[in-house]
Amino acid sequence: MRAQPLVAVAFAAALTLAGCSSAAPTASQSPSSAASAPAGGAGGDVGVFTWWADGSEKVGLEALEKLFKEKYPNDTFVNLAVAGGAGSNAKAKLAADLQNGNPPDSFQGHAGAELQDYIRADQIEPVNDVITTLGGASVFPQNLLDLLTVQGNIYSVPSNIHRANVVWANPEVLKKAGASAEPADIDAWLADMQKLKDAGVATPLSVGGTWTQLQLFETVLIADLGVDGYTQLFTAQGDWGSDGVKKAVAHYAKLLSYANTASDGDDWPGATDAVINGKAAYNVMGDWAVAQFTLKNKKDGVDYTYFPVPGTKGVFDFLADSFTLPKNAKNPGGSKDWLSLIGSPEGQKAFNLAKGSIPARTDVPSDDFPAYQKTAMASFKSDKIAPSIAHGAAVSQAWNSDMSTAISKFYRSKDQATLVTDLVAAAKKNAV
Ligand code: BGC
Repeated sequence: MRAQPLVAVAFAAALTLAGCSSAAPTASQSPSSAASAPAGGAGGDVGVFTWWADGSEKVGLEALEKLFKEKYPNDTFVNLAVAGGAGSNAKAKLAADLQNGNPPDSFQGHAGAELQDYIRADQIEPVNDVITTLGGASVFPQNLLDLLTVQGNIYSVPSNIHRANVVWANPEVLKKAGASAEPADIDAWLADMQKLKDAGVATPLSVGGTWTQLQLFETVLIADLGVDGYTQLFTAQGDWGSDGVKKAVAHYAKLLSYANTASDGDDWPGATDAVINGKAAYNVMGDWAVAQFTLKNKKDGVDYTYFPVPGTKGVFDFLADSFTLPKNAKNPGGSKDWLSLIGSPEGQKAFNLAKGSIPARTDVPSDDFPAYQKTAMASFKSDKIAPSIAHGAAVSQAWNSDMSTAISKFYRSKDQATLVTDLVAAAKKNAV
């Protein structure tokens, strides 16, 4: 049922891997299987590296930590989180730690191209045994496993699936201007933003720093190119100078003209809070935002509403967090305890309830999840899947970094032709 839509993602990922000769299985796959781990855990410190350091993201991590302590009392959870949405600060610290031979016992990495960076650099170990013990392809969608697999080895355990193309809106603010509940496309959405402006709403659309802008831009690309045209961009044949990309850049420029002024490093909670406190009408944010509304005691349908970015209805802009076993981890037994926990039905339920995401496992019932996650689960089953640029599914970290530089430059210059030129150059340098 899920196999078909994920093909687009797997396709992009497979192409990313083409020619990846250093991705051969590493020699030291631990012979100890997760099944034979001592009851209560391997013992010792288990250092877990994420960027879930604050606010609603911390609440998600804490749900896992609590369960981990219950299930593995011999182990000591060590929280190595580094603040900054989308790993904006964490990834540099992680790269330095890996480079210096000081890996954590497990770290967060996005399924798809980003994870493949670590595989290519020979920095992580296969975890086939853990995945098999968790139920393998009978509980994880095969095409999600494909995004974690190189040459027959699976390199991480997925904890969740997030959707990136969601508009979060403040219904009170929309009412002031008679703006529609769900505009049909980007042009209709821009018309609503003008109505909001005319009604005195200073910030129709809230944005944060560079990665939130890149995420907004990817959703506009999906709206203007469709899933197939968008996915094609990540292949060697991708045409970043096409009329479709130019149209998306023009739309994106207009959207920014209705947005607040942000600095490069502004994080996502501020942008989502602007909708929560009625300063802005809309924020495009991944569905980790729903946990922020919950944290602030806001009620679904009353204090906030949500809909796919106009023009992307029927598309699920996909990303998945997954956890790794780094090469030379100090406590590989403890790492496997952590991986077993996050991949278990209980772990996935506890974490995803708190995080706003949906379980990567297919056997966690939707009944106990709130309304938003129920809609996300249904969409994930029926929608076409597009891989996220800003969150590691579609492009390598190097390509992401070049696109981020281009988007940040554009935020200051608003020079559309230069953005297109920079996107073309980034693809030329990084596409494989
Ligand atoms: C991660 C999410 C996280 C978001 C904001 C994404 O890259 O996958 O888990 O909530 O960044 O930090």
